[in-house]
Amino acid sequence: MKLMKSRLGTGVAATVIVVAAVAGHPARAQSGGDLTARQLQGQTLYNRICATCHGRKGDGNGPAAKRLDPTPRDFTSGLFKFSSTTGGVQPLDGDLIRTISEGIPGTWMPAWKYHLDPDEIAAVVSYIKRFSDVFGEEMYEEDILLRSPERPSDYAATSESAAAGRLHYVTNKCAECHGERGRGDGPAAGTHEDSWGHRIMPTNLRSGVFRGGVREQDVYRALTTGLGGTPMPAYGEILSEQERWELVDYLLSLRSSKKWRSYLRSSPTWENSSQQGRSSARPKGD
Ligand code: HEC
Ligand code: HEC
Repeated sequence: MKLMKSRLGTGVAATVIVVAAVAGHPARAQSGGDLTARQLQGQTLYNRICATCHGRKGDGNGPAAKRLDPTPRDFTSGLFKFSSTTGGVQPLDGDLIRTISEGIPGTWMPAWKYHLDPDEIAAVVSYIKRFSDVFGEEMYEEDILLRSPERPSDYAATSESAAAGRLHYVTNKCAECHGERGRGDGPAAGTHEDSWGHRIMPTNLRSGVFRGGVREQDVYRALTTGLGGTPMPAYGEILSEQERWELVDYLLSLRSSKKWRSYLRSSPTWENSSQQGRSSARPKGD
């Protein structure tokens, strides 16, 4: 946890990582005052470019929000879909930086790396963390379910691994929600609401559009930690690492057109996106 330590300075116990937006100042952004220089910079940017959708108060109710499906995130809920953590634990800075940099494919959430530099993205992150007290809570080592996003070299993607993944898909009842052939039309589809009170449909896994990102390590993260605030379960403690990689291979084999492959090739690597914020915590524990 070297990077987290240097980010937080001293006071980090060996097994307990205290992630506090502003230590000693749990006040919310809207209550005014006590913003650090970095948060002030983040606030200015936020009000200019994020608030139209996410709202000045961070409640997801900006003027443009009503027409959007899915709706912009309500930051005051403290719940995030794309995270190295699970079970309602706050995401790491690196998770927020990645989402904000890359955007959320298939939704209105833009990829901000084309408009903001890494320092500005880090400033916005420090500001949006003030909307929820969840960022002042303690985080334990075991809350970080995703240890390494990298694919170990001994699990190569082959047609055999994809076939094994198909078996995991069947035995773990993914089809209940995503359907036999992955089209998002299983018997339970349409029966779910997300934690923000909106109807939510299982992803059509053949579309190739994954909101948490389209690279294999993004799909691996979704399978490992699930998607917070949605019915998509976390399989990090149910399936072995190898089984999850096999599932990734199966899911990506459902989508293997030329267009998809070239999209993957042109996508930035995890390293690029996590290095964008100098203060980012790499979602890697040891
Ligand atoms: C045009 C509308 C729009 C703008 C502008 C916008 N967002 Fe979003 N954002 C969304 C939508 C829609 C979602 C929810 C997508 C979903 O639930 O899958 C979202 C989700 C998010 C999330 C949640 C990710 C998660 O893990 O749950 C974060 C963080 C975020 N936006 C940050 C920002 C920041 C920071 C800005 C400004 C730099 C910004 N957004 C600007 C529409 C927008
Ligand atoms: C209880 C229903 C349910 C089950 C069971 C389920 N999912 Fe999901 N899954 C969802 C929903 C709902 C979403 C969409 C969340 C969203 O759009 O925000 C989703 C999203 C996904 C995504 C897209 C992630 C992204 O970044 O957009 C993948 C991949 C996925 N599921 C794979 C699986 C696999 C593989 C299994 C079985 C091991 C599985 N799911 C089991 C409901 C389920």
